[in-house]
Amino acid sequence: MPYLTGTRPELRLVLAVSLDGRLAPAEGGAAQLGGAGDRQVLEEALAWADAALVGAETLRRHGGTCLIHRPLLLEARRRQGRSAQPIAIAVSRSGQFAADLPFFRQPLVRWLLQAPPGALGAPPEGFERHLPLQSWCLALGALGSLGQRRLVVLGGAQLAASLAAEDLLDELQLTVCPRLLGGGHGWLSAAARVPPAARAGWRLVEHRALPGDELLLRWRRPEVQGVTS
Ligand SMILES: NC(=O)c1ccc[n+]([C@@H]2O[C@H](COP(=O)([O-])OP(=O)(O)OC[C@H]3O[C@@H](n4cnc5c(N)ncnc54)[C@H](OP(=O)(O)O)[C@@H]3O)[C@@H](O)[C@H]2O)c1
Repeated sequence: MPYLTGTRPELRLVLAVSLDGRLAPAEGGAAQLGGAGDRQVLEEALAWADAALVGAETLRRHGGTCLIHRPLLLEARRRQGRSAQPIAIAVSRSGQFAADLPFFRQPLVRWLLQAPPGALGAPPEGFERHLPLQSWCLALGALGSLGQRRLVVLGGAQLAASLAAEDLLDELQLTVCPRLLGGGHGWLSAAARVPPAARAGWRLVEHRALPGDELLLRWRRPEVQGVTS
């Protein structure tokens, strides 16, 4: 049973993808797929979230993570007594991040979720908290008990695949961008395994045309008995 009910946070994967489902160009590198429309819905998703999970490689390639800039969203969070930005939770096995990464200068609270064999102890420089990632169920349960109820997952593909493999993504929020990229960087890699329960039955809960011929699509996972959402 892949779920912890009660304390497990809700997970929303948020990505900008090309018309052919790629999240990065064939040659790799830091993808800059979405335009102003995508930026808008990305900030809305961040404003919804308590924390954002981001893969280590995405952080290394982009240097930092996305922030909420829109004053209305910041003001709404302030009125709700929430921090301006969701907590940025870097997901890593190696725990290796260059100390001069701009990420460490962003106005954020940073946590590190690290799979073994990373030795846990005092948080590495730049992180306020160091949590173990022995399994997703345990890690998500721990995040839930630390008050993290809503998580956005900002990619990349490896992180998305590891959550999809355990049927832990509750929502997929994809901004489809008017680009054809080809190549092998699908938002779920060719090696990704999706369990049968998560393969069909996704419900479309939002669709919105965005500026720049982009399209927001948001699906909720197939209902599973015993899962609250
Ligand atoms: N279009 C979009 O919306 C979008 C969004 C995000 C990223 N991207 C693109 O995606 C590419 C990066 O994606 P990626 O798939 O190469 O990398 P990624 O998923 O961002 O990061 C991979 C790394 O994250 C850590 N990691 C992932 N899953 C883990 C798990 N289950 N347990 C422990 N650690 C885990 C490992 O870190 P260590 O290496 O530290 O061990 C792994 O090497 C870039 O081209 C980026 O531009 C696009």
